[in-house]
Amino acid sequence: MTTVALIVAAGSGSRSGSAAPKQYAPVAGRPMIAWSHAALSAHPAIDRVIVVIGAGQQALLAAAVPSAEWVIGGFERRDSVRAGLEAAAGATRVLVHDAARPFVPHAVIDRLLATLKDAPGAIPVLPVADTLVATDGATIARETLARVQTPQAFDAATLARAHAAWEGGSATDDAQMVRALGLSVAQVEGDMMLDKITYPADFTAAAARVGVETR
Ligand code: C5P
Repeated sequence: MTTVALIVAAGSGSRSGSAAPKQYAPVAGRPMIAWSHAALSAHPAIDRVIVVIGAGQQALLAAAVPSAEWVIGGFERRDSVRAGLEAAAGATRVLVHDAARPFVPHAVIDRLLATLKDAPGAIPVLPVADTLVATDGATIARETLARVQTPQAFDAATLARAHAAWEGGSATDDAQMVRALGLSVAQVEGDMMLDKITYPADFTAAAARVGVETR
């Protein structure tokens, strides 16, 4: 059994306000991409970590994670995942992770891989804390919703099949593609450490979270 982790890092990160793409910007004193690369590489069940980067980002990645294995991604997130899947040919299990989520607790990976024994895919989710409203004004019962994080774990052949069959346009995660095959994706408990860094203020919040965790 071979388990490969793909870190998709080929986005522009334009909402973050940082000069370089946000995945290379410092978070708590270390380039964002270096955090998740170190955590995934250190997990005993993960055999290989491949970073999917944007064209021309080789030097940025080399400065952040000198030894990283990489491939060039594509225009949309799903194009980048597909490029990673091609590089991961021969894998039995694949974890797909957003570089925008630097802190990856090993306990979440453990939950995902344990659940993957009985499911084609597993994703980390957290409950929604806010009251939710549709943009037309209707309140939505938050108990019926969950926040989806990454890494998302899949049987590698199933995920490749899902990407090949997908006709739904832009996709913000991989689980929706697997569900489109008619398969059910299991949910495990996520972790606030995995929250995505999107806006400038998220960098400060993330650095504070690391401080709390490591004190
Ligand atoms: O834009 P968003 O934050 O949703 O992107 C999620 C992840 O997908 C990020 O880590 C980003 O770098 C990655 N991505 C990618 N290729 C793209 C677009 C996004 O690897 N074309």
